[in-house]
Amino acid sequence: MKKLYIKTYGCQMNVYDTERMVDVMAHEGYEVTETPDDADLVVLNTCHIREKAAEKVYSDIGRLRLLQDRRSKAGEKKSLLAVAGCVAQAEGAEIQRRAPTVDMVFGPQSYHRLPEMARQAGKITDQGARPRLVDTDLAVSEKFAALSRKSVSAGKSAFLTVQEGCDKFCTYCVVPYTRGGEFSRPFEDVMRDADRLNAAGVLEVTLLGQNVNAYHGRDADDQEWSLARLIRHLAAHTDFKRIRYTTSHPHDMTDELIAVHGEVAQCMPYLHLPVQSGSDRIVKAMNRHHTIASYLRTIEAIRAVRPDIALSGDFIVGFPGESDADFQQTMDLVRQVNYAQAYSFMYSERPGTPAAGREDQVESHVKSARLAELQAELDRGQRAFNDAAVGRVMTVLLEREGREPSQLVGRSPYMQAVHVDVGGRELAQKYLGQMVEVKIVSAGPRSLKGELSLT
Ligand code: 5AD
Ligand code: SF4
Repeated sequence: MKKLYIKTYGCQMNVYDTERMVDVMAHEGYEVTETPDDADLVVLNTCHIREKAAEKVYSDIGRLRLLQDRRSKAGEKKSLLAVAGCVAQAEGAEIQRRAPTVDMVFGPQSYHRLPEMARQAGKITDQGARPRLVDTDLAVSEKFAALSRKSVSAGKSAFLTVQEGCDKFCTYCVVPYTRGGEFSRPFEDVMRDADRLNAAGVLEVTLLGQNVNAYHGRDADDQEWSLARLIRHLAAHTDFKRIRYTTSHPHDMTDELIAVHGEVAQCMPYLHLPVQSGSDRIVKAMNRHHTIASYLRTIEAIRAVRPDIALSGDFIVGFPGESDADFQQTMDLVRQVNYAQAYSFMYSERPGTPAAGREDQVESHVKSARLAELQAELDRGQRAFNDAAVGRVMTVLLEREGREPSQLVGRSPYMQAVHVDVGGRELAQKYLGQMVEVKIVSAGPRSLKGELSLT
């Protein structure tokens, strides 16, 4: 068996893509290794969303180069090094110029060609030359067709990509350029994957897409399927106990989808609905296609049908032109909405995006101060949400082993991590992968502790 090491950066879409690459390379005789030290093929599945994420890739390449040098000195064969994902898509051959050790560069829509590229690169190295392969084609459908035939899944919780790319063009964001335009997979293709996961015993499925609630796949009769309709169909025709979806855009949160939260028991009470800023002036400059009032109306409508919904969001502080008053409106919005959890970032200038060229960039120390203030408030909200769970009994899907042999970790319906001591190593093996009732006994800033509830 040859050995494959993949490092994944960034979003869940990349996690999903990594799993697909592992599947596809398993058919080529590659098995996964946990370290690059003994790998025949190293793949960095990269993220370009913020500068830090992109820079991390170059420092990792630097470290891998030292490893390659050590291997050549010891007379061992070098591994093939591939840079995949969004940095590859955005920077293409530039990566090989900056980092000559890189043999292959391919974007998110070319994973299905990885086996062929690896074979070709292997032949070139056998002849003593360095391969320089670049594939940054953006045609999506071919990738899905090629990869989904082969995919297999382990575990009880699985991702299923239904939609990829984005047409929203928020003025700070690289996604429309790196992942390409919005693409919804055909209904039958999605169902084929869903049926396979269902047959494998998956209990929880998370439908993935950069703009997942904009899903509008067509079926063989050319009928359109909205995300709401797809979720209803999955709930009725599979044994999935839990259905989640991420990431959503406020503009695409239709009444039909909101109704699903009230009517479909399998649709979990958790929604990631990024707003980015609490200032109308800023969301307009971000080209977000919604206002703060329309965002709040959407949340009100969801809470009307599902009062216990846990809300999550993304925030950017220090977008060009953001004043103190704009930022305080973000703070007000956070206090008003009461997020169960959220992600927050300092604005990062991304080359090629409209906001990058603006003259009114916010100074870095101002951004840091705003981020700290916002994060303190978000942490406070998350802690309050977690504290409110203490004493409640919740269904938890015990997905993985914990730190102690008798401990398992799973998620509550609200996406909180719950650590459960099941009372012994054997019991842990018995309960792993099961959905159980858990009494929450204590709360921390990022997770809960619970015990099996026998009633
Ligand atoms: N700077 C900072 N944060 C960004 N995001 C996207 N682009 C940028 C950027 N240029 C954040 C947004 C988005 C999340 C995935 O990453 O909040 O919702
Ligand atoms: Fe980026 Fe905006 Fe599209 Fe989200 S909606 S992926 S932030 S362009």
